[in-house]
Amino acid sequence: MSASALQSLLRPVAPLAAAMSISEVADRLLTAEHRAFLSLPVVDADGRPLGLVSRSKLQDIFMQRFGRDLRGRHPVGEVMNPAPLIVSLATSLEEAAKQVTGQLQYPITEDFILVDGQGLYRGLGTVLDLLKAMEARVAQRNRVLRQALVDLKESQAQLLQSEKMASLGQMVAGVAHELNTPLGYVKNNVQLLGELSAPLFALAAAQARLGQCLNDPACAEADLADALAAAEQARQAAAPELLADDLEQLLSDTLYGLEQIAELVLGLKDFARLDRALSEEVDLNDCIRSALLIARHHIKDKAEVVQQLGELPRIACAPSQINQVLLNLLTNAAQAIEGRGRIQIRSWADARGLHLSLQDNGRGMPPAVLAKIFDPFFTTKPVGQGTGLGLSISYKIIQDHGGQIRVASEPGRGTRFLISLPLPPAVAMPRSA
Ligand SMILES: Nc1ncnc2c1ncn2[C@@H]1O[C@H](COP(=O)(O)OP(=O)(O)OP(=O)(O)O)[C@@H](O)[C@H]1O
Ligand SMILES: [Mg+2]
Repeated sequence: MSASALQSLLRPVAPLAAAMSISEVADRLLTAEHRAFLSLPVVDADGRPLGLVSRSKLQDIFMQRFGRDLRGRHPVGEVMNPAPLIVSLATSLEEAAKQVTGQLQYPITEDFILVDGQGLYRGLGTVLDLLKAMEARVAQRNRVLRQALVDLKESQAQLLQSEKMASLGQMVAGVAHELNTPLGYVKNNVQLLGELSAPLFALAAAQARLGQCLNDPACAEADLADALAAAEQARQAAAPELLADDLEQLLSDTLYGLEQIAELVLGLKDFARLDRALSEEVDLNDCIRSALLIARHHIKDKAEVVQQLGELPRIACAPSQINQVLLNLLTNAAQAIEGRGRIQIRSWADARGLHLSLQDNGRGMPPAVLAKIFDPFFTTKPVGQGTGLGLSISYKIIQDHGGQIRVASEPGRGTRFLISLPLPPAVAMPRSA
C-alpha cells in the first residue's frame, strides 16, 4: 500500500542522456510538458539515474554574458547535480517525506528521482505533490482519530451507564436483603398473633353462651353449670392476663418492623431519584443518610458508623449521582475493613464550599496503589469481584460538579476521602448520562 502511495506521485518524465547539450535541455524545460518541473533527470544507457539538471542552474548560465553561446553546446552532464535525491518506489509515504524534507534545501531547485527495486529510473516526484499527499494522509488520520474519539466517548457513556446499573443492582440486592429481615419477623409475628388470638375467640364464644344462659329463665341448672365450666376452661386456656403482655409486645415489634420497611422504601425512593431532577437544591446530609441506609447491609457487620454532620446550606447538584459516589466510598470503606472497624463521616461548610469526609480504619493503601485508584478498571480485588470503576466514576461525577475529591491513606491505618463542592456550584450541571 505504501508503494502504491508513491506510485501515485510518479510523473513519468522522459529522462535525458548525459551527452545532450545544455541548450537542448534548456529548450526542453521550456516546453509545456516540462514547465511544471524544477529539474530533469539524466540517466545512463541502462536507465540508472546519473543526476539532475536543474532549471535554476541553466538559468544561471544563460544569465551570464554570452553564457548560451559559450556553453550551450556543452554536454549537460557537465552541469548536472551528480548526487540528486533518489527515492525508491517501495518506500512508504512517511519515509519518503522524511527522506526528502531531511535533505531539502532552500530554495527548492530540484525534484526527486523515483526508482524501482532494481534502482532503475521510473520517473520524477515533486515536493509539492509529496506535501499534498502527506496532507491528505494527515487529514485521513485525523478523521480516523476523530471517529475513534467519538467511539471512545460513546463507550465511556456506556460504561457510566453500566456502572450505574451495577451499583443499582448492588443496591437492590442490599435493600432486598434489608427488607427481608423485618419482613421475616413481621410475618412470624402475624402468624403468632393468629395462633394466640384463636383461644380468645373460643373464650368469647363460651362467654356468650354463658351470658345467654344467665339471661334465659328457662335455662336448666345443669346447662348453666356446664356453661360456667366451659367459660372457665376457655378463660384458663386463653389466659388473657398473660396474653396481654405478649400481644402488646408482638404488636409493637410488628409495627417496628413495618416502620423499618417503610423507612427502607422511602430511602430507596430518595436514593433512586435517578434522573429525575438533574440539578436540585439538596441537603448533602440527606444524601449521606440515604446512602447509609442503602449501604447498611454492606456495613453493619463490618463497621460502626460515626456521623458528625454539620449544618449545610442546600446545594444544587444531581443527588442521584452524589448518592452513587457516597455508596461507592462507603462500599469501598466497608470492603477495606478486616474484622470490625469504624467509618467516620463528617460534613461541614466554610467560605469555599461544602466538605464531606469519609474515613475508615481499614487496611489503607501503599503509595503505588494510591496513585492509581482513580484510573478506570484499576482494582486490587479478585477477578470478578471489582470492576475498578467505582472511584473513576466517582471522580468524574465530582469533577462534573466542579468539585474535588482527595484522598489520604496509610497502610494499616486507614483511608480518608475528602470531597469538596464549591458553593455556589462552579459549573452548570451536565445532563446526566
Ligand atoms: N477505603 C479504601 N481503603 C483501601 N483501599 C481502597 C479504598 N477505596 C478504594 N481502595 C482501593 O482502590 C481500588 C479501586 O477502587 P474502586 O472503587 O475504583 O474499584 P473496586 O472497589 O476495586 O471495584 P468496584 O468498585 O467496581 O467494586 C480498590 O480495588 C482498592 O484497592
Ligand atoms: Mg469500589
